[in-house]
Amino acid sequence: MVEDLKQIFLTELESMENPADLFQLRVKYLGKKGVITSQLKSLSSLPPGERPFFGKKINDDKNFIEGQLDVKEAQLREKELKKQLQAEAIDITLPGKFTPFGRVHPVNRTLSEVVDIFVRMGFSVEEGPEVELDYYNFEALNFPKEHPARDMQDTFFVSGDIVLRTHTSPVQVRGMEKRKPPVRFIAPGKVYRCDADITHTPMFHQVEGLMVDRDITFSNLKGILETFLHQMFGPDTPVRFRPSFFPFTEPSAEVDIGCILCGGSGCRVCKGSGWLEILGAGMVHPNVFGHVGYDPEEYTGFAFGMGIERITMLKYSIDDLRLFFENDMRFLRQF
Ligand code: DAH
Repeated sequence: MVEDLKQIFLTELESMENPADLFQLRVKYLGKKGVITSQLKSLSSLPPGERPFFGKKINDDKNFIEGQLDVKEAQLREKELKKQLQAEAIDITLPGKFTPFGRVHPVNRTLSEVVDIFVRMGFSVEEGPEVELDYYNFEALNFPKEHPARDMQDTFFVSGDIVLRTHTSPVQVRGMEKRKPPVRFIAPGKVYRCDADITHTPMFHQVEGLMVDRDITFSNLKGILETFLHQMFGPDTPVRFRPSFFPFTEPSAEVDIGCILCGGSGCRVCKGSGWLEILGAGMVHPNVFGHVGYDPEEYTGFAFGMGIERITMLKYSIDDLRLFFENDMRFLRQF
């Protein structure tokens, strides 16, 4: 190669900073119209005797240029890779972003505890709608037309015969409509009442229970509820049944446990009585069976219902219901 050309090539090569420019340089020298290519083409115009000499020289130049370009290309690619790796480097010594753990709301916690206990005793879990027909919320549960529970003061009416369910008991009826005895399920969920003060919120949670078969007696009800209450509040918790009234059970009972705060000696929470009312229960009324087509001569059953907020307040000694719904993290984080 003419020394000048070599010098020019090397200077140009030196100034290359990226593979794209380098490619252009390769085209300039080795491309179809490149410097070396046109030199090769011009060989034919030389006298035949000189062709081998110059031919060899041009080939040597071509090899030299090719070699130089390849070396440079490898260098540039390596440089680019290093730059990329540096740009993408992750400092694994930096502290991570802290994501605080979520908590289960105390009401949901009690709810799953209650559900777990009954599931262990063979109950399945049934769900029903929160927007409910008057028929399921009242009628089929043997509430007479003029029953005070239907009053505007308690019930949120959506329209004439559609309400927000005031209890989970309608799920008893829906559950029985779907199957034949034996029946054994619980129905947890939200219920609504037009009521708001320190001990009432317009929305709260209940768990309903129902068991129907041949020869189900009040003793079965006592056994199941005592077992439940002992698992929930401890094996030594006293339990008592008091006669009561619900339209959909006969006989009906309210169930108390010995006050878990004062141990029965009497305090503010149990209002000095030593007992806390914890749930309602009873033997399913024959009229309810009538609505779902069960023969009351063949089948008997029991039902029960409890308020989850109340159980949670007692379990954790919480004295203000509103704490459950204010979403104050200082309160919720304690669970
Ligand atoms: N549904 C009643 C209420 O909301 C609670 C209840 C009482 C449910 C007795 C029952 C039961 O299943 O047998 O106050």
